[in-house]
This record gives sequence, C-alpha cells and structure tokens, in this order.
Amino acid sequence: MSKKVLITGIAGLLGSHFSRYLLSKGYDVVGIDDFSGGYKENLAEGIYCEDINLADLDAVDSFFKEQKLDYVYHFAAYAAEGLSPFIRKYNYENNLISSANLITSCINYDVKKIIFTSSMAVYGKENIPPFTEDLRPCPIDPYGVAKYAVEMDLKLANEQFGLDYTIIRPHNVVGIYQNIWDRYRNVIGIWIRKTIIGEPLSIFGDGLQKRAFSDMHYYNIPFEKVMTEFGGEIFNIGADKERTLLETAHLVQKCAKNFGFNPEIIHFEPRHEAKYAFSDHTKAKTLLGFRDNTDLELTINKMFEWALTQPIKTVNNMKYETSKKIYSFWK
Ligand SMILES: NC(=O)c1ccc[n+]([C@@H]2O[C@H](COP(=O)([O-])OP(=O)(O)OC[C@H]3O[C@@H](n4cnc5c(N)ncnc54)[C@H](O)[C@@H]3O)[C@@H](O)[C@H]2O)c1
Repeated sequence: MSKKVLITGIAGLLGSHFSRYLLSKGYDVVGIDDFSGGYKENLAEGIYCEDINLADLDAVDSFFKEQKLDYVYHFAAYAAEGLSPFIRKYNYENNLISSANLITSCINYDVKKIIFTSSMAVYGKENIPPFTEDLRPCPIDPYGVAKYAVEMDLKLANEQFGLDYTIIRPHNVVGIYQNIWDRYRNVIGIWIRKTIIGEPLSIFGDGLQKRAFSDMHYYNIPFEKVMTEFGGEIFNIGADKERTLLETAHLVQKCAKNFGFNPEIIHFEPRHEAKYAFSDHTKAKTLLGFRDNTDLELTINKMFEWALTQPIKTVNNMKYETSKKIYSFWK
C-alpha cells in the first residue's frame, strides 16, 4: 500500500511543487490549505485538499481522524519575515499555534513522522554566514522566533511522545506558483509583478544585502529523502551562490527585457533585517545527496512566462497591529 502523506500549505510554492513530485512517485497525497497565501489554481489536478485553518484544533483533529496519515510535511505558514514585527499576533497564531495544533494531532493519531520547514531566519544577525546547522539560533524578528519555537517544540514532542521529526531550513526559494501578489514577501515575485504592471523594482536600503536564491525544483529529492530517515536532524537547503539584491534586481531587469519590459530600480529606507544571510549546505550534500543547480536567470525567465499567463489578482494590504516605525514603503 502506498504511503499516505499530508502536505500543509499545499497551495503554496513548496506545497504545489512537492505534491506533484510525490504524486509522480506514487504516494497517496492529501492537503490542507486555508488559501490565505496560496491559490486553488496551484493545486495538482484532482488532489484532495481541505480548506482548513490550522489554528482551528478541532478541524485539524477531525481531518486526522478521517485521513489515517503516515507522514506529514508541514509547510503552511505566513512567511513575511520583515512584516512580522507589525503583525505579531497573526504571525504567532499562523506560524506557532497552528504548528502546535498540528504537532498535537500527529501525536494523537500516531503519525510516523513530521517534516517541518523552519527557516534560515532562525540564525538572525549575530551569526556570521554561511550559517551551519550547529550554530545557536538567534532570531531577530517574530517570524524567526515562531520558527525556532516550533523547532524546540518538535524536540520536546519527540522526547516525551516519541514523535519522529526532521527540520529543514530553506532560504529564498523561487519558482512558478510563488505568490507574486503579496506586497510584503518574495522579493523576486514582487519585482516580476511590479514589472508587469509598469512599476519600478523596489529595494530597501542600498541593495547590498546578500541572499542566495534557489529554484524550488532542487528541494524535492531531499524533501522525499527525509521522509523516513534522519530523525531529529536539521538541514539547511538552498543555493550556495549568494548575490546582492542589487545584482538580483539587475538580473530581473535583464529578464524583463525578454518580455518587452524595462523597469527602473527605486530605493527606500533600509529595514530591520540581517544584511548578509546565506547558508552552508555541506550536511545536506553529504547526507541527502542534495545538489543545487539553480540557474537564476532561467528560473526568473520561467517565472515571467508563467506570471504573464496568470489572471490579475488583488494585492491586499495587511491590517497592521502596530503602525509604529512602519516603513514608508508599506504605509
Ligand atoms: N519560500 C521560501 O523562500 C522559504 C524560505 C524559508 C522557509 N520557508 C518556509 O517554507 C514553507 C512554505 O513556504 P512557501 O514559500 O511555499 O510559502 P507559501 O506562502 O507559498 O505557502 C504557504 C501556504 O500555507 C497556507 N497557509 C498559511 N497559513 C495557513 C494556516 N494557518 N492554515 C492553513 N494553511 C495555511 C497558505 O495559504 C499557502 O498556500 C513555510 O513554512 C515557510 O516559512 C520558505
């Protein structure tokens, strides 16, 4: 019998790609998504997905009771790191309480293993990149705090209840199906949307922040590999090649030309963020056979191609819980 796998956040970037990959490998895949950050159009054809907000423990419990799951990939989150100080409650409900509910249900229904996508955000700015998994986390915002809290909670759930788990810390993943209509996250997606609607590419500060962008495609194999192996381990996964945001914006400008656009770059005040953030992937390469062959120019071109076929979607403003020190760009 094929293994039954739940993917939370299945309508998002990671979920929509990984669900297709697992289906192609013969797994029985089901999903949960509340479509707060992902879209129904992203779902693999015919896949079973329930519209559940993971913050609702009763709904999560009923789903687990019915579905008899073997494995859980927990991707659902609102990953707007820079916005998280202005939406603390929403951030913790969505990223921490929701995860706690899922962990409780995994315990109650004897799930064999949960795989959790944490984030490079746990490393913060005290640590010097490239970050290795053994560094002591030191997050600098509520998003990173929530991710680190879930990591710690998984360790406790394992110690007390024997729940098996593996933690993946991805960073700067890109690809089609990414939400490009959210003004607070996914910088390359934001730039592609802005290009198409004739707006300049916005950069916080001088653009000399460094990040390493990787194509989602290269995550599938290591994600599958940790389903049954490497319990209790933490893996960084992502591209090795870091570049400045300014360089990345220039690359988007270059790709935009292929589609008849010529966007300018505009700078805003710097925001609260780690200047240099990229990871070391030796552990994933050694133990999971992870290889990243991201050709960022090719990925951005594919994203443009895809974005141009998408229906116009509304770009929503979040309801800020505090507007103190909110950046001019988000007013
Ligand atoms: N994309 C990246 O660069 C990146 C980097 C580091 C970590 N991660 C982590 O990987 C995971 C997946 O990221 P992604 O880029 O696919 O994000 P995404 O926003 O594309 O997908 C997340 C999905 O979760 C759903 N969701 C959010 N809150 C929910 C809730 N309370 N209940 C049910 N569904 C909910 C959204 O509707 C969305 O479809 C997240 O946990 C994110 O924090 C992503």
